[in-house]
Amino acid sequence: MRIVVLISGRGSNLQAILAAQLDAEIVAVISNKTDASGLKIAQTAGIATAVLAHTDFASRAEFDVAMMRLIDSYQPDLVVLAGYMRILTDDFVHHYHGRLLNIHPSLLPSYAGLNTHQRALDDGVKAHGCTVHFVTPTLDHGPIIIQAVVPVLPSDDVASLSARVLQMEHQIYPTAIRWWLAKRIVLNTNNRVNLLNNTGSEQTVFYTGS
Ligand code: GRF
Repeated sequence: MRIVVLISGRGSNLQAILAAQLDAEIVAVISNKTDASGLKIAQTAGIATAVLAHTDFASRAEFDVAMMRLIDSYQPDLVVLAGYMRILTDDFVHHYHGRLLNIHPSLLPSYAGLNTHQRALDDGVKAHGCTVHFVTPTLDHGPIIIQAVVPVLPSDDVASLSARVLQMEHQIYPTAIRWWLAKRIVLNTNNRVNLLNNTGSEQTVFYTGS
């Protein structure tokens, strides 16, 4: 199986995916930003990199068409968004239906969008976390594959809380991709995700870190 990873920045999730040594080839890492430090992680790992700057395009639609062309030139089975900070056109999302994953730093459907950790702190929630989901046209609302929960501590600030969540991101993203590659993820007609166990029956997904 061939995977293309899209990034915009640091690339720590990319690094975790690489470290997980999945049964797949990461054929390219593509960034919409030239200065994304995640590109260096890919280069160090000997993976092809490409940059397509959204600032070079007149519209979101034109950029996404060019991005699809670039992605498809690597013939991926799966496209993984790992800190790719772009809102996607419907055409882009439909083109990769069922094979486009994203990680979001909150327990969706709470805190879709930006500044998730600050918003969680402002609300005084006691549990926070992260979500891997299929991407659909509505931002951060696709079928949920896996979530991990962390406590919010009285002493937390954005830095400490985001670091705690990020540690979990690095666990659940490789796990979700592994499940997808093993064809264990079942997307039901009601848009719920179940997991096939080794006897071929479906179970609900509740991740306990094991
Ligand atoms: C992560 O928190 C991810 O959930 C969000 O953007 C951040 C990317 O971090 N979508 P990194 O580039 O993987 O380090």
